[in-house]
Amino acid sequence: MRVLLTGGAGYIGSHTALVLLERGYRVVVLDDFSNSSVEAVRRVEELTGETIPLIEADLAAPGAAAVLSGVDFDAVIHFAGLKAVGESVQQPVRYYRTNLDSTLNLLDLMAERGVAKLVFSSSATVYGDPRYLPQDEQHPVGVGLTNPYGWSKAMNEQIIRDAQAARPELAAALLRYFNPVGAHPSGRIGEDPAGIPNNLMPYIAQVAVGARERLSVFGDGYPTVDGTGVRDYIHVMDLAEGHAAALEHLTSGVTAYNLGSGTGSSVLEVVRAFEAASGRPVPYEIVAPRAGDVAETVADPRKANEELGWRTTRTLAEACRDSWAWQSSNPHGYRAERTA
Ligand code: UFG
Repeated sequence: MRVLLTGGAGYIGSHTALVLLERGYRVVVLDDFSNSSVEAVRRVEELTGETIPLIEADLAAPGAAAVLSGVDFDAVIHFAGLKAVGESVQQPVRYYRTNLDSTLNLLDLMAERGVAKLVFSSSATVYGDPRYLPQDEQHPVGVGLTNPYGWSKAMNEQIIRDAQAARPELAAALLRYFNPVGAHPSGRIGEDPAGIPNNLMPYIAQVAVGARERLSVFGDGYPTVDGTGVRDYIHVMDLAEGHAAALEHLTSGVTAYNLGSGTGSSVLEVVRAFEAASGRPVPYEIVAPRAGDVAETVADPRKANEELGWRTTRTLAEACRDSWAWQSSNPHGYRAERTA
């Protein structure tokens, strides 16, 4: 089977490309490199010994589908999209245009080409403020979301459901990611955020490597184990394997799955785990809570465990070890190698 990975050069896309190639799939990557690097794809080729056809295009642009006219594929994993929560509040129109038009163009293209298998990168953010924990797939979706990024994921889920109702052969999995962290254990591919990292683990990694002075911990007054925010961190290799499992188990209709571990960790627990894995101190200071943050999110992953035969197997300590291997051997992300 040949799988088109939109956004396949990004953090989750590149790790998924690697897992699919190792399982005997062929992959094609489409990416506009607006927040990713061709070097990531080269390194996946190096790690797997396979060649990855690469198409540079913005899927959200009018007529984007034309660039795929000579390319055959049997299934699509749709990662492409903008993902910075804070930026989405500043630039809502750009976020909606990019994240919705890319999906609309893709659905048109799939219908034209008779491709009926789709795996979509959704997010636990579609659940909004948790009404209960752990959150299962029955939790209300798209109620009171606090940012356009989250709304764009919820809207995309609805768009895919409507498209499937009109085209019954379409089989789609909506994968609701919790908090992806870590890197491939080789340290050759990993998360390479542009500018100041928004997310906890890459920020901690940059503090540990000496690129940033200290971590700002956003609030210690939450009703959690130590007052700091609790999240369900999932190793990116477990997440990548979740995509392969979803592809293997696609059935007609649209099915949502949580991809998470089922275990929550606080910010300070992540700090301590990273210090232990890296042997480096991670200085921090407690600052005001970040607008829009919730106290705690934790997945109930049982549906994916049972229906996809998938579960997380890697610990937070392993995620910290692998994130450190990536950060310490690539202190400037993929850029160092490009300019070397
Ligand atoms: N945090 C800090 N300091 C930082 C960064 C984060 O204390 O510099 C804290 C946050 O307050 C939160 C935890 O670390 O308690 C995790 O924050 P992240 O920014 O890493 O992750 P979020 O849970 O806020 O967001 C993630 C994804 C979003 C997605 C959301 C869905 O980044 O794309 O999960 O739940 F929408």
